[in-house]
Amino acid sequence: MRVTDLRIAGPTPIPPAVMQAMQRPMIYHRGATFRGFFKGLLRQLERVHQTDGSVLVLPGTGSAGWEIVLVNTLCPGDRVLAVVAGDFGERWASVAARFGLRVERVEVPWGRAATAEIVGRALAANPDVKAVLYTYNETSTGVANPLPEVGELVRQHGALLLVDGVSAVAGMPLEMDAWGVDLIFSGSQKAWMCPPGLVIVGVGPRAWAASERAGFPRAFWDLSEYRAQAETGDLPSTAPLTLLYALQAACDLIEAEGLEQVFARHRLLAELVRDGATRLGYQLLAEPPYASPTVTALLPPDGLAADTVVRELRERHGIEVNGGQGRLRGKIVRVGHMGWVHEPELHRLLAALEDVSAARREPR
Ligand SMILES: Cc1ncc(COP(=O)(O)O)c(C=O)c1O
Repeated sequence: MRVTDLRIAGPTPIPPAVMQAMQRPMIYHRGATFRGFFKGLLRQLERVHQTDGSVLVLPGTGSAGWEIVLVNTLCPGDRVLAVVAGDFGERWASVAARFGLRVERVEVPWGRAATAEIVGRALAANPDVKAVLYTYNETSTGVANPLPEVGELVRQHGALLLVDGVSAVAGMPLEMDAWGVDLIFSGSQKAWMCPPGLVIVGVGPRAWAASERAGFPRAFWDLSEYRAQAETGDLPSTAPLTLLYALQAACDLIEAEGLEQVFARHRLLAELVRDGATRLGYQLLAEPPYASPTVTALLPPDGLAADTVVRELRERHGIEVNGGQGRLRGKIVRVGHMGWVHEPELHRLLAALEDVSAARREPR
């Protein structure tokens, strides 16, 4: 059966207005038209980040964000606290280790939140760490970690707060300045409703100060180059025009709906999925107060294998969802509900889930 419904945690469906924006012809990327357009886009991105600092756009995906953040703020041998509460936290910690940082891992059971209490204890035990690597929304477990509380704590401590916001930004509240987030990156293919290919990076003043002392070689990922070029509405290399057009159209949609309304819609949709799935006997992997507004991870009822649910949804209903990853492979079903998603699609998903769950039960 042809897949008609993309309910994975990214890439996410593209709204018609964004599709249409991508039809625009190429223009000279160093001309006045582009410069005016790009400056306007950067202002829109700043509003979504709620920051007076800079937001920059680079060609790349979320994984580039892990590297960009590290090489622009730290020196080889620096100690960092890597909060590992799922597969993406795990991967970031491993990238940090590969760069020669001394990584103190804060292990959080997968499905639990990385609370301020946990991070506070780790900081007390490791007072000399230069930075905390924190995943706002752990896509692999469907947990939204309490970034505002952690922001306050890390600021008091004096370490940098470096945040993976890949599956959060534009779908979950973010007040970069008020929460004390020094650097946060996200990927265009998630709540931004665009194709993959852009990494969006918010940079605060403490991160810029750290970048002057940072000791890693950097060239393509040098944020200060992007900042300098952004002054005139430029990018250091040829602008990925089509994706930037898409991002602007997506920002227009977000602003037309209103940021608060966008976040409220995500919360409601997540609740709809949680309620519907738990009524069918599924359990949430996430501790409920921290269940993510953008992705829900479900443990199937006894007798039903997660991979069977994923396969049957695709083969019998044309709905693509994710299975688990890392050590959750084969154990969970993940439903993405971020970006261009509304209630009817999720009612269809729940009806299909009911069908699949009733039709196929087998030993786990
Ligand atoms: C939280 C998080 N971080 C990083 C990434 C990696 O992003 P990408 O696959 O775009 O490189 C993902 C991708 O799903 C993610 O969800």
